[in-house]
Amino acid sequence: MEKPANLASNHRFSRPDSSLPIANGNLAAPKKKWTNLMPLFVILVVLAEIAFLGRLDMAKNAALVDSWADVFHRSHPGGELPMNSDDFSVAKEGEDRNLGSEEESCEEWLEKEDAVVYSRDFHKDPILVSGQNEDWKTCAVGCKFGYGSDKKPDAQIGSHGQAGTATILRSMESSQYYAENNIAQARRRGIDIVMTTSLSSDVPVGYFSWAEYDIMAPVQPKTENAIAAAFISNCGARNFRLQALEILEKAKIKIDSYGGCHRNRDGRVDKVEALRRYKFSFAFENSNEEDYVTEKFFQSLVAGSVPVVIGAPNIQDFAPAPGSYLHIKELKDAPEVAKTMKYLSENPVAYNKSLRWKYEGPSDSFKALVDMAAVHSSCRLCIHLATTIREKEEKSAGFKNRPCKCTRGSKTVYHLFVRERGRFEMVSIYLRKLTLEALESAIWTKFTSMNHVPIWKEERPESIRGGNELKIYRVYPVGMTQRQALYTFKFENDAALRSHVQSNPCAKFEVIFV
Ligand SMILES: *[C@@H]1O[C@H](CO)[C@@H](O)[C@H](O)[C@H]1NC(C)=O
Repeated sequence: MEKPANLASNHRFSRPDSSLPIANGNLAAPKKKWTNLMPLFVILVVLAEIAFLGRLDMAKNAALVDSWADVFHRSHPGGELPMNSDDFSVAKEGEDRNLGSEEESCEEWLEKEDAVVYSRDFHKDPILVSGQNEDWKTCAVGCKFGYGSDKKPDAQIGSHGQAGTATILRSMESSQYYAENNIAQARRRGIDIVMTTSLSSDVPVGYFSWAEYDIMAPVQPKTENAIAAAFISNCGARNFRLQALEILEKAKIKIDSYGGCHRNRDGRVDKVEALRRYKFSFAFENSNEEDYVTEKFFQSLVAGSVPVVIGAPNIQDFAPAPGSYLHIKELKDAPEVAKTMKYLSENPVAYNKSLRWKYEGPSDSFKALVDMAAVHSSCRLCIHLATTIREKEEKSAGFKNRPCKCTRGSKTVYHLFVRERGRFEMVSIYLRKLTLEALESAIWTKFTSMNHVPIWKEERPESIRGGNELKIYRVYPVGMTQRQALYTFKFENDAALRSHVQSNPCAKFEVIFV
């Protein structure tokens, strides 16, 4: 086991552009186990390469093991060598079969015993949603929107469904204006799937995305006399934004107001273009609700104009870096914020610090949030529905009894499933130790060996895409909300992971790469 694993991994590290079929790990593709499909000649090519490298590297074998360990330890301090990826078993499999060594490994056995053919193939029989289609390109699962299909839809936008059709609430409005958007209230009305700006909803629909906002657009000189720009269409709101504006005005903050509220400039301008010339811009929402962050905030970020926020109490979760915004959380904060605005506007170095993320890139936490929108909410809805359908099948009476673990002597191997957020199909990983570190390293090794390309790669601005090295940001059980996944959930320790896996055989996880 040890030797082929090291060879295989070194092989891949030294030749990242390898022409081996394993290089094309595309999780979105309609995919059966590639090992089953792989023509015999490819196996022979792999074997030949392994044999060749084996001979080639015999002399420096020790050195190779060291360098593999280095590579591994650099990304996973203190990590054990991952000997659990089924990718490694592939090399071994070939060796076993052809060179005639010992019995099949636990990994191979589990791969066969846990294999499932689900009753519905979502590529042939896509998820059907009755509702207005929105523009989106591809989806990791078959996914169709429309009206008047002969087939019964899996779900429908709106609350009056036929029996057996999931009902969906989809809205980007604040629940302080539209009480029906409140998640608990929607559930009471019998809505199955909530899609709102709340990251606690089943399929969040945010205002943020890389595609819609050129977030890394360069900062331009602040040429206006006034230090702040306001685009507030009307003075009314269910929060204190008008009073706050008046406090700032009284504190002698020079404000150019383009909107209907306290207008002193001609409003017929391109908003983002105008904002670029101001040090600050007011991102005043009409209600202060968790996760309700609209284009007002993201336009300020694009413009490189420090947003002064009245709105979501958790605006920090949406900010590209700490210190990149000012927050009037309560009315009594307004005088202090006015002081800070004055200070920053008179101190270029300090002011420039609040835009540092524009030069150095935003935080991982911001990337992980905005990357969610790399997959359109309609597609995320279909993935959510398909996942639910599979889970239901797994819990049904006639479902295959899978072992999900394999014990030989004192050793147990656990079979787990992982997919990237935004994708549908799962890949197998095998853990010999149920520790958080082993889980992360198995995921990292597996996806790295597949040359996995993160789903956001094409979407993120080039300057912040990073290299090809995968970096794990979060791992969490499938089914959690994005609020949990991004901000509140964490396996407290190895014992918590162990107990999760033991009570969820063949446990499924989702990984977010940054
Ligand atoms: C702001 O800081 C960045 C580096 O963080 C620097 O490149 C830029 O020139 C600075 N701009 C001003 C106006 O000082």
